[in-house]
Amino acid sequence: MKTIIYYFTGTGNSLDAAKKIAASIGDCELVPIASLVKDQDTITPAAERVGIVCPVYFAGLPLMVASFAERLCPDASSYVFAVVTYGGSGAAPALGQLDGILREHASRGLDSGFSVRMPGNYILMYESPKGTRRAAMLAAADGEIARITGVVRECQRQKLPRSLVEQLVHALGYGWFRKNAHDKDRTFTVMDTCTACGTCFAVCPVGNITLVDEKPVFSHNCEVCCACIHACPAQAIQAGSKTGRRERYRNPNVTLADLKISHTETP
Ligand SMILES: Cc1cc2nc3c(=O)[nH]c(=O)nc-3n(C[C@H](O)[C@H](O)[C@H](O)COP(=O)(O)O)c2cc1C
Repeated sequence: MKTIIYYFTGTGNSLDAAKKIAASIGDCELVPIASLVKDQDTITPAAERVGIVCPVYFAGLPLMVASFAERLCPDASSYVFAVVTYGGSGAAPALGQLDGILREHASRGLDSGFSVRMPGNYILMYESPKGTRRAAMLAAADGEIARITGVVRECQRQKLPRSLVEQLVHALGYGWFRKNAHDKDRTFTVMDTCTACGTCFAVCPVGNITLVDEKPVFSHNCEVCCACIHACPAQAIQAGSKTGRRERYRNPNVTLADLKISHTETP
């Protein structure tokens, strides 16, 4: 059975999950959602099984994923599943949001939706778990990904999770995120330690960074994925006064090269 998994990732957690599911079910194409934003055409996947894998942002979907979902039109007979990776809470409303968008725009919802807890990467607010805590979290995530893969392989339908508290968090915070996300990079600064290597430019999934005199300049079309901040080898990109002290994160199973191509081509 042919499968297409569409994914969005900033620091590799969602790509790690997508790759593991793809490797296990076989005959699966991985498509970066960021590579589909150039045009606005309807997306009709040529596959019997369709997956969407992305992080949770403010108890909802990354803006790019929400726009992508509005254009996605899977065949009525196909099996459609979603996996959201998250740091602590908010997975249920994110899956509900995706299900709602598909119902509205494609006249069908998700057949199943899953969440995988992985290290949180929102460095503007906190430092990612590290050391043994990070390792334990990733080991538990691997177990959950294996379980999800079993359900997906059998195309089993599964009820979406629900949480009133998380729905309230979504209602309170997601509108603010939607309004302010693209401008979040106005708080980003580049230190003199920048070596002009261009990594930030290469990993940004939305082409939000241009290099002027080989140094990054942000264009206020930010997805807040934090890829540039985490991937900079010199830790030269900051957002406010606190990020300087916070360790950077990249999922250990994903390379910088994986992230660099994640917005331009099918790996
Ligand atoms: C802008 C932003 C908002 C986030 N909001 C949430 C959230 O509401 N709940 C949560 O559990 N994790 C949140 N996170 C953490 C990510 O969902 C989590 O680290 C995810 O696994 C990152 O996936 P990626 O490595 O594929 O980018 C947020 C991260 C970012 C960058």
